[in-house]
Amino acid sequence: MADTRFASIARVDSDEKVRGRSIYGTDRVLPHMVHAALATAPITRGTIRSIASERALAMPGVRLVMTHEDIDVVEPAGFLLSGQGYAFQSVQPLTSNEVVHRGQPVAVVVADTLETALEGAKALEIDYEEAPFQPLLGAASPDDIVAQQGSPLPEAFADKIAGDADAAIEGAPVRIDATFEFHAQHQNPMELISTVAQWRGDRLIVHEGTQNAGAIRFGLARMFGIDADLIEIISPHAGGGFGQKNSMQAQTFLAAFAARRLGRPVKLALTREQTFHTASFRPAAHHRVALGATREGQIVGAVHEVDQQTSRHDFFPSSSTEITARLHGIANFRGSERMVRTDTQTPGYMRAPFEHGGTFAFETAIDELACELEIDPVALRLANDASQDPLTGRPFSSRFLAECLTIGAERFGWAGRPMRAGSMTAENGDLIGWGVACGAYKASTAPAAATIEAHADGRVRVNVTGHEMGQGLRTVIANLVARRLRADASRVELVLGNTRGVPQHLTAGSWGTATAVPAVEAAADALLEQLIDAVPDAGQLPIDEVLRQAGLAELSSQARHKAPGQPDAVYERLATGLPAAMGPAYPEFVGMSYIAHFVEVRIEGSTRRVRVPRVVSVADCGRVVSPVTAASQVRGGVVGGIGATLMEISEIDPRHGGFLNADLAEYVVPVNADIGEIEVHFVDEPDPLLNATGAKGLGEVAMTGVGAALANAIHHATGRRHRNLPIRLDQMWSAP
Ligand code: MOS
Repeated sequence: MADTRFASIARVDSDEKVRGRSIYGTDRVLPHMVHAALATAPITRGTIRSIASERALAMPGVRLVMTHEDIDVVEPAGFLLSGQGYAFQSVQPLTSNEVVHRGQPVAVVVADTLETALEGAKALEIDYEEAPFQPLLGAASPDDIVAQQGSPLPEAFADKIAGDADAAIEGAPVRIDATFEFHAQHQNPMELISTVAQWRGDRLIVHEGTQNAGAIRFGLARMFGIDADLIEIISPHAGGGFGQKNSMQAQTFLAAFAARRLGRPVKLALTREQTFHTASFRPAAHHRVALGATREGQIVGAVHEVDQQTSRHDFFPSSSTEITARLHGIANFRGSERMVRTDTQTPGYMRAPFEHGGTFAFETAIDELACELEIDPVALRLANDASQDPLTGRPFSSRFLAECLTIGAERFGWAGRPMRAGSMTAENGDLIGWGVACGAYKASTAPAAATIEAHADGRVRVNVTGHEMGQGLRTVIANLVARRLRADASRVELVLGNTRGVPQHLTAGSWGTATAVPAVEAAADALLEQLIDAVPDAGQLPIDEVLRQAGLAELSSQARHKAPGQPDAVYERLATGLPAAMGPAYPEFVGMSYIAHFVEVRIEGSTRRVRVPRVVSVADCGRVVSPVTAASQVRGGVVGGIGATLMEISEIDPRHGGFLNADLAEYVVPVNADIGEIEVHFVDEPDPLLNATGAKGLGEVAMTGVGAALANAIHHATGRRHRNLPIRLDQMWSAP
């Protein structure tokens, strides 16, 4: 086991990124390439009566108009969360005249230039027959509320039960019962969802920024009815994903179909407005949290109930309570989640998809309990720490949440905090509030394969299962290879997100590092193993020197790795692009990452505008493999949490369905001026059970708990309790 901390190396792709040399999917400009644009449905439900394309086809430069009458699909790619599919929703665009959500693609126009394609799409005359629809979570009829057990993956999303929570709360002397409201939000990665598709004979090559090259490959193979070996997906970088790019999107097949029809490469990028309606988003949800405690501060029971929006055609299940059940040591817990059908595209994953809302609700309720009991909220959490997993009784693989809390309290200066709300004021009259909250996220692992090719000239080429979306996976791998093979990190060439090499699995759920690192580590060990007889110092000396001593110009190795306790059958899922990750519950233990956030808010007295001058975040993600990008992940998570809590909302007009503020002018996200100092620390203790390096996940735990820490700080400043996100200026006055 690695027992020393990893070196702080700079982000290995920073130089090429700041010079604009990183090639993203649709940066590809191929000879004879033409441009496609989508026409999308302006209705929320109904049918297409007719599409007149004469005006569009008459425009100079327009080469092709495709509608549902032109497209044949051999077999749909299927919904990712069915367990056997590849696409973000089950509806395949342009396969029928039915419209099931606003923004559904109904036609593709291909032209010599992007401008002509966009104009051509506008020139289509499409006649619709509209049907009634219901886009709002709160207005759904009882028939539209479905127990989560009805989903195709019932075990994964079953109720979370330990002991008898309702009875424990009923008998408790102190009780909290609160409801919370969360609205839809959109990821808005900078790189738009987009594809460049090219056929070379019967081979299809797709350039696309994605978190899931394997799903695109096998999804396209199904839809075209061709062998997946004929399809290659190339995705060296995704310009942000945040979950929106974690499965096959609507445009990929359309671009590939048009490219085959025209015999030319086709580029198709969604507009920003289309990413709001034609791709997935964080669903709206309602939560209820009830807590029961003794007067001394022992939490004896908790209930967490969730209603979450899904589409009418797919079950996108929720897993909020998988995390909140394990946040504290509460012996009696009942978590239940239901899905509510609404007329929308199928929602999906957005960084800390359920855990942002789940921890907001739960950790706000814990703060209310602390106020009620007049116990310091850090002390209350420390007194209710878990020594084993409350749901399964299994041990945690590692858990340093108490350390996160104590280190954070120390760094923040928490000891100076007065208990009473509204008791701190700045010299300029601003109200000051200090808040704390915890977060947790599953420590998952997916199957992965890796190959290493080491050269005597110092180059090391690594190909591994995993996608770089800005989170730092390239730097993680380079740092690991530098350490294991004594190689120069800047000479490590990384091939990621490329189906020509090792099989590609979805990179999501914060499992990227804990998935790729053990596979690369095993491949590095296999490489050294081949050398150890010739060069007994292999592993201690730089790998290029070892190769020279062994008289070799190059040497390669390969390895694969899966989650602890997973059967070998998961490698078949890996080989066919299907999701096969495991966690948090493993056969022998439960693996989670943890974080504690301490937040200061300053609130202007007359307007109640909220500022966040400083945040201290302390994470337990196991061994930190890349200190620089890990700290950056946490800062990004905090910024995301500030946006999600104070600003971000996708507004729905119930008369028309769809999202009203579908652009970056009106969908408000934080900018530099909104962000103060974010101080990041890591416990950096290796997890002894998950993998040899001891790494857990970090990407999403970073964002969990930020919202509650902010709202708890606002409560500490103003005495008002916020249970409806985002907390905007009007609510600063109207909340109770
Ligand atoms: Mo991430 S929201 O698990 O792709």
